[in-house]
Formats: sequence, C-alpha cells, structure tokens
Amino acid sequence: MKLGTCYYPEHWPESMWDNDAYTMAKLGITQVRIGEFSWSRIEPSRNKFQWAWLDKAITTLSKHNLKIIMCTPTATPPKWLIDEIPEILALNEANQTRKFGSRRHYCFSSKNYRKESRRITNILLNRYGKNPNIISWQTDNEYGCHNTVVSFSPMAEKAFQKWLQVKYINIENLNKSWGNVFWSQEYNTFEQILLPNNTVTEANPAHSLDFRRFSSDQVISFNNEQVNIIRAHSDSLITHNCMGHFTSFDHYALGESLDIMTWDSYPLGFLDQGWSTEKEKLQWMRSGHPDFAAFHHDLYRNCSKGRWGVMEQQPGAVNWAPNNPTPANGMVKLWTLEAAAHGAEYCSYFRWRQVPFGQEQNHAGLFDSRNEISQGALEVAEVSSILGKLKSLETASNEVALMFDYPSKWMLDIQPQGNEWNYEKLCFEFYTTLRRLGLSIDIISPDHDISKYKLVVAPSLPVIPINLLQNAKIANTKLLFGPRSGSKTSEYQIPPEYPFNRDFQFIKSESLRDSASLKINMNDKIYYSKNWRDIIECKGINNIKFSDGHPAYIHHVDYDYLATWPTYELLKGLLLNLTKKIGIKTTCLDENIRIRHTKDLTFAFNYGDEILDISKMTPENKFIYGGSKIDPHGISIWKTQKNK
Ligand code: GAL
Repeated sequence: MKLGTCYYPEHWPESMWDNDAYTMAKLGITQVRIGEFSWSRIEPSRNKFQWAWLDKAITTLSKHNLKIIMCTPTATPPKWLIDEIPEILALNEANQTRKFGSRRHYCFSSKNYRKESRRITNILLNRYGKNPNIISWQTDNEYGCHNTVVSFSPMAEKAFQKWLQVKYINIENLNKSWGNVFWSQEYNTFEQILLPNNTVTEANPAHSLDFRRFSSDQVISFNNEQVNIIRAHSDSLITHNCMGHFTSFDHYALGESLDIMTWDSYPLGFLDQGWSTEKEKLQWMRSGHPDFAAFHHDLYRNCSKGRWGVMEQQPGAVNWAPNNPTPANGMVKLWTLEAAAHGAEYCSYFRWRQVPFGQEQNHAGLFDSRNEISQGALEVAEVSSILGKLKSLETASNEVALMFDYPSKWMLDIQPQGNEWNYEKLCFEFYTTLRRLGLSIDIISPDHDISKYKLVVAPSLPVIPINLLQNAKIANTKLLFGPRSGSKTSEYQIPPEYPFNRDFQFIKSESLRDSASLKINMNDKIYYSKNWRDIIECKGINNIKFSDGHPAYIHHVDYDYLATWPTYELLKGLLLNLTKKIGIKTTCLDENIRIRHTKDLTFAFNYGDEILDISKMTPENKFIYGGSKIDPHGISIWKTQKNK
C-alpha cells in the first residue's frame, strides 16, 4: 500500500514547495493529490489561463519522486463563471438558490455546466494528459457532499421529465406504475410532472423514488462525461473520492466507470455526527467506532472490482462535526494499517498542512499552520516503515458477505413507517455483530455473484431480485434476510404475491418505539428485539417465536428469515447458531477488538484505551508486529496458521 497526501500548492508561497516535497518523501509519502479546488487559479477569467504555478508545482513534487493525482476542478466553479451563467447554481428543496461562496454549488442537470465541465476537463487533459508524473486522475470532489446530489432547479425538472419518458414510454404506464389514481394524481403528459418537493403532505413515494433514481443517474452521467475525456487523453488510473455515510447516489454504478474507487475516512467526525449512543460517542471519542471505517473499506472495495484506496485520511481533529476531538496517539497508524488489512492500495492524508485561512482553518493537517510536525505525521513515518515489512497484503477470499443496496436505502427512507427505522444503521448493526464474531466480511450489491460465499446476509431487502433464491440454492449459499425483505416491488408497490408466500404467510408489519421491546425465547434464554416486526404465520417450518407466539425467526431449508430488528445479543445468538450450522468458524471478540484476515496475515486492532490480551487467538511466536497483549489503540499482526 502506498502513502499519500492532499496538497494545495496554491495556498502556500512557492518558496515552501521544495521543502514540503522533500519532507513528504522523507516521511514515506510517494503520491500527492492536487488541484481539486483550483479553477479560479487556473482560469481567473474566461479563456485566460495561468499554468506557470501548476507546471512548477508538478515539477517540484516530481523532483522528489512524488507521483501526482491530478483532479478536475469542477467542485468549485469560479465566480466569473457563475456570473456569466447563473443557472449553473442548484436549488434546494425549498426552491432557494444555493449561492456562490462555498463549494459544490452546481446543478448536475445544468446543460451549460455540463459543457463547462467538459471544457475545463478537456483543457486540463490536453495540457497534462501525457505527463508521466501524473499517475491518476480524480474526477471532481466528493459527489454528494453538502447534500448536493438533488437539485430542484427548472433544468432538473426538464431532465427528470425526459428521464421518465425514456423509462415509461407513455404516460399511462407511468400513471399505472405510480398508482396515480390515488388522490387524483393522474397526469396527461410528461411535461405536467413536477419535482416532488414542497407538496402539501408527502409526495407519491413512487414519484420520490424515481426522482432519487434520476438524481443518482445524473451524477453517474456527469462523471462519465469526465471519464470519457480523461480516457481519450491519458492511460492513467481514474478515481473519484467518495465519502462515508453518503448514500444519495448509487456508488456501485459510479464504480463501474472507475479504475479504482477511493473514499474519505474521517472516523472521529463520523462517530460524533452519527447515530451512535452517547456512551459509544464517549467511549470511542478518540478512536472512532471500531466498525465505521472497516464498513466503508469493505463496501467500496466491491464498488470497483476490488481496486480501492483511502483518498483522505483524518490526521488530527476535523472542523465539521458537532465536536472535534484530537485522535488518541496511535490512531493514525491504526487507521492506516486497518485500510491495508482490508486491501487498500493507497492511503492519503488530508491535508498536508493546516491552512490559516478560509472555512477549514480549524482542520488539522500533518503539519500545523506554523509548520510544526504533528503526532499524525510522526505516525505516518512509523507506518511507512511497518508497511515495508509486510510483504504480502493479498485480500483473503471471505466466506461471509453483507448485502448493502442504495435503492433499498432510498425506498426505506421515503417511507420509513416508523421513527426509529434507518436502513443504513440496521446494516451497520449486522456488520458490527458479524465482525464481533471475528469474521472478515465483503459488502456486496444484490447483483453481485454470491456463489463463493457460505453465508450472505441481507439486513433488509425490500425488492428481492428474481433469481436470488434460486442462485443461492444452486451455489449452496445460505441467505439470511432481515425485516421488510420482499415487502415491495421495484415500482414501489406492495407485491401482489409476497415472494416467500409459498413457504410462509406474511400478515402485516408494525413499527414500535425502541423502548417497546419484544421478548423472544431462544434456547431457554430471553432475548429482545426492537422497533419493528413483520407478523407472519408458518406451518411446518422450524422457527423461533416471539412471546406472543408469532414466528420471529424462520429456519427454512433454503434461507433464514428474521422478522424483526434485533438487539445485539439476539443477533449474536442467532448468528452463532447459524454459522455453526453451516460450518463457519467464529471467535467472540471484546467490544474494542476487531480482527481482519488477509490471505496470509491476521491483523488485530485495539480501539479501546486499555491493554487487551489476545493470546487465546494466536501462538506468541508468529507475530510480525506487536504481540499477544495489544496496547491501547495498538495493532498486532501475525502469520495466519495454515489449518485455521
Ligand atoms: C472532505 C472534503 C475535503 C475537506 C475534508 C475536511 O469531505 O473532500 O475537501 O473538506 O472533507 O475534513
């Protein structure tokens, strides 16, 4: 795995560049990302270009053998361009203009902005496409950041109408598919269809779902336009940097056109801003949730056929979460090695130096704004020497996969049918529970080939792909479905025939407040579930029951079905039974420990602030790094025993 950093030469006097490049190389950094917000410096007014500074920055970095990841600057269209073409600006849900003055202020449906995006991409590629020091191109920056996938502009409305016309061909099909007879919502023409915002009460869910699909497609087609231009001029790898928690566009679809998927990992910001409990937020305040980065590593690895990396790794405190603590000593090293253990090709720190001006002046860098080295940078130097000792980091073939699906997330967001329902959180809780059984997981889409897995877990899958059950049967892959699976058609209707009907009867669902736990008796012990249940009836199928007699968990010969949102203890108990039955080895882990297997190595990570003994897991003499007592926020690495 290579190390890198995000550098903004335009923020610093030229006199600093050479020493910066020298210091990067000394720390073990070999790649530098530049240029993603630099449009106003490249083209200060239309067709007046300033290349000297960028040429010089590339030469200076290259002199120190640093390779460049060059970005298209389209996340920040400059003021002159907005003044020239104000319709570039997106509109928010309240139909207010998202004004110039920060970033990502464009609408993906603006044809004029598409033209400008192609123009600047072409210009950059004409100049640098064959530059041997540029080894990768990044398109734009973090599609979706600041809630920018959707725009409610007139251009978006027009483009949506066209998109609907292509999908439905005639308006009768659309009316039928959306169920527009309900509340007299029937349309006579596609041109009558508006965007689903500012309606009196909720818009038709099928309308909202199509708008989300359309908005996701707009991101992909915007990206494809840049990708095509880059490919026409350059053989370098193409990437885009995605973010954690962003689900507003389909990342599997984005990954199809990329050579390598990258993402931006800010574990402390994500924890503080996320759904974790107050207790967890305090417990992991300086380390991040032990599964958050890993979840995204495992997700993005499968978004672009296995090639992935971390484009922005938090090196110190960030500036954007409600609270922004400094990482515990050791965490920058741990996060980096964890990415390596999950198969990353690349880990790059955001940013090289804290900038003393602008919106992100309180965001740490590897160096502070006075150019003093940080703890994070010291750990980068250490990590680069550890990586030198790890010869093979080949990804293992994992036995267990978790299905994560963007359209499912949109569907369940549109009608959660209960305050506590959160698809992403449910998937994350399943992932955590699997990882606390010591398992290494792949995260896959419902279209992914499942034949190599012994177990595939779909925490909730409203639309069951036609061949999924059949494919699983042929491959002898066990499927475990969670609540609400099979509850919808892709048109956002209740299916005329419930997909599991031949095996059991779905009666109805209910949502409950989290505190209204339901009791489940399993192996003479009482467990609890929360917030949701599907009420089903079955005859002749082995099942575990709620205390009122309805089945909570069904062991069908082809799949298992969990009809509720489980507590951790319940899910752990169920997964222990299931993995044992199908021959998957598990190891119950402390809440602060996680392990990850590569083909030859096992990594253990301690997210807690106490020494933890893992001697039961490994023979002492095989360690490559660390030992059987892992320091707080420490790592141990050992050769995996062949028979394990
Ligand atoms: C990322 C973004 C960077 C920077 C960083 C701060 O989301 O790509 O440009 O803003 O956050 O943590």
